Amino acid sequence: MKMNTKLLHGYPVICKDTGASSIPKFQASTFHQPDAFHHEGYNYTRFGNPTITAVEECIKILEDTEYGLAFSSGMAAINAVLFLLSKGDHLLLAKNIYGGTFQTIQEFLVRFGIEYTMVDEADLSAWENAIQPNTKMIYLESPSNPLLTITDLKAVTNMAKQRDILVACDNTFMTPLGQETLPLGIDLVIHSGTKFINGHSDVIAGLVATNNESLHKRLKIHQKALGAVLSVEDGWLLLRGVKTMGLRMERSIENAQQIAEFLQTKKQVKQVYYPGLPTHPGYEIHQKQAKNNGAVLSFELESQAQVESLLKNCKVPIVAVSLGGVESILSLPWLMSHAAISEEERLKMGVTPTLVRLSCGIEDIEDLITDLDQAIQ
Ligand SMILES: Cc1ncc(COP(=O)(O)O)c(C=O)c1O
Repeated sequence: MKMNTKLLHGYPVICKDTGASSIPKFQASTFHQPDAFHHEGYNYTRFGNPTITAVEECIKILEDTEYGLAFSSGMAAINAVLFLLSKGDHLLLAKNIYGGTFQTIQEFLVRFGIEYTMVDEADLSAWENAIQPNTKMIYLESPSNPLLTITDLKAVTNMAKQRDILVACDNTFMTPLGQETLPLGIDLVIHSGTKFINGHSDVIAGLVATNNESLHKRLKIHQKALGAVLSVEDGWLLLRGVKTMGLRMERSIENAQQIAEFLQTKKQVKQVYYPGLPTHPGYEIHQKQAKNNGAVLSFELESQAQVESLLKNCKVPIVAVSLGGVESILSLPWLMSHAAISEEERLKMGVTPTLVRLSCGIEDIEDLITDLDQAIQ
């Protein structure tokens, strides 16, 4: 089955009890049992729910893995993975990661006695040199949020495998359709389902997929014990949204490429970051490991006044914190996705007050370009 067919037929999409063409919202916290010793598959929604099972089957199919888990948010999924670490362990991570991930490392992991080192993800020798005898996990995003830096996933996973280090990858920007990370050696793939997978800016969700049974069992306990389960309503909406992901992504990616090329021609734009541009330093590696270039790009303007004017004068994209919706979304990582990181750390990452991120939606490209053009002028 090819992907667009899989998205519609590859996992439970029909209710087996009634034939309903969408899996119902099993809006129940608990399930009647015939007696105290037996139940019919479900007993309490924090431990499992049929609507959420369908979501978990869906991520398994999309990632082509043995196991999939759904969480209440991308951050809940990330925390469940990071909590695999124990006191005394060392975490090695890319310096360009989502701000919330950085915050959880500083707020929890450090307090729990876990050391971490951040490296320039594009520099293989930096990864190699930072590995310590107690390094237990490598964590990365490629392309990263918000600078779209690229990590050579195969080279980093090869390095990790030689030393028995787990590798976790946040694949939110690429989606399972755009980049298959497990065949590259990644052990755990994470998605903020809030973004392209649901695609309609109306759900908060997180997903993790793996082929490793023992990791899956531990994560299932984290899901249950941390209470970070996906709500039934959000699970149902995600199941509806995911059906059109193939078509949505196709259009959004086409728009992103054209907008990136257009922005490169504007004198007010100092730099465009998009892995679909041959000028991107990670272009060749990204083309080798991904199937497309994704629908998110960032660009650097010259002054804060220009940024303010752009955000005020753009009429088509919404100005918001998120990404991955059917509508284009403009955001300022400095004040939004990366605000939880200290000013010094943000600047070290390259996240400046004049960096704008654009998540491309499915609008008509002529309208997007005309609008961006007038707002940039
Ligand atoms: C790359 C990336 N990972 C994870 C997250 C967190 O996801 P959520 O907001 O669903 O918790 C985000 C949110 O913006 C993100 O951009």
